Amino acid sequence: MTCGTGTLAFAPAPVVPEDSPLFTVSLNHPPLVDLLQRAYSAEKAAAYAYIGHAGSLKDPAAKAAVKQIEHDEWDHRAHVLAIMRHFDVPVSRYYEVKYAIIGRFIAGSCYVIGWFMPIFFAGKLESGNVCEYFVMMHYFHSLGIREHDAVLYEMGHKEKDHEVYFLGQIRGSRLLPFFERAFGWGSKASLNDVTLDAKYPVADSHRYCATYRAGSVKGAAEAGNQQG
Ligand SMILES: [Fe+2]
Ligand SMILES: [Fe+2]
Repeated sequence: MTCGTGTLAFAPAPVVPEDSPLFTVSLNHPPLVDLLQRAYSAEKAAAYAYIGHAGSLKDPAAKAAVKQIEHDEWDHRAHVLAIMRHFDVPVSRYYEVKYAIIGRFIAGSCYVIGWFMPIFFAGKLESGNVCEYFVMMHYFHSLGIREHDAVLYEMGHKEKDHEVYFLGQIRGSRLLPFFERAFGWGSKASLNDVTLDAKYPVADSHRYCATYRAGSVKGAAEAGNQQG
């Protein structure tokens, strides 16, 4: 800065990227940290599984639909990572290895277990994934954090789209009633209480999955998959 000549020169303000550690806030909520880390890695497992699933399909329309679902899962992984970086949550190497193995195993199995089972178990998996994002929302709310509601809402509903798609593929199969009885998911039973034809708005979406415990929601069997 030169005062004598009447000219002023200011140094430019330093630009700090949003993902810089200077912008991170730590999360004092171990179950939420664990859920973020698990969801991030499980999205990779799902994407790997859908690569195998799409590869095993012959019908071009069905193959394209599963490829789209794979892309949705990569998008989810990117969204979860952005949240993790915001709070300086590290990626879990344990979950990354574990879910990579699971995803690769499922991908390979799609070529040998026929057409029904990959679709059935994908639908059941998606059904369980729906509440993961609403439970994440509940955890954030318990800390007074609401800034991620919209993206969590969107991801939860996208998982419901996936569940409904897979159920639609097998709804007419004679195998479905047997598998539904054996594994607790199908046209009458869901693992979540989200319904696409009567959605809560984002502001009320904390009502979803309020009774979610260990992979199921009380009352979801009646509410979840009977609409269509
Ligand atoms: Fe996903
Ligand atoms: Fe999904």
